[in-house]
Amino acid sequence: MKSPVAPRKRFLYAAVGTALTAFMMPPSFGADSNGSQEQAALTLGKKLFTQSARPACALCHTLKDAGATGQVGPQLDELKPDARRVATAIKNGLGNMPAYRDTLTEEEIQALADYVARATDAAK
Ligand code: HEC
Repeated sequence: MKSPVAPRKRFLYAAVGTALTAFMMPPSFGADSNGSQEQAALTLGKKLFTQSARPACALCHTLKDAGATGQVGPQLDELKPDARRVATAIKNGLGNMPAYRDTLTEEEIQALADYVARATDAAK
């Protein structure tokens, strides 16, 4: 009896499954995870926010810690989004905000999300 799923399709399912698993794995910071690594991630997040992300978040958002005064999107100091909310907006876009899932790596998105959440928390 023939298998209901063609071999090529089965391969595709396996590939998608692998990709999903990799995507859902928490970022591993290694056994020697420490404060300086966290600091490096926050520094990366700030740089992405002000200049490296294309287009840069600072063009549209106000965020005191980053010296950003954009007026297109919500003021992040007031919104105080948590990291998960920031990551979701970056990945999927929202309204006039573009999605960055094709231009930023998972690690960069996480660094940005952590940075924004931290920076707005500090601005309370
Ligand atoms: C082209 C302008 C633009 C850029 C660039 C931009 N945003 Fe936005 N952003 C917006 C707008 C507009 C909204 C509000 C969307 C809505 O609610 O309809 C928004 C919403 C948000 C929100 C709130 C999401 C929510 O759940 O309400 C966060 C957080 C955010 N942006 C973070 C970022 C970060 C981080 C970047 C850089 C990676 C970025 N934005 C780049 C325009 C922009």
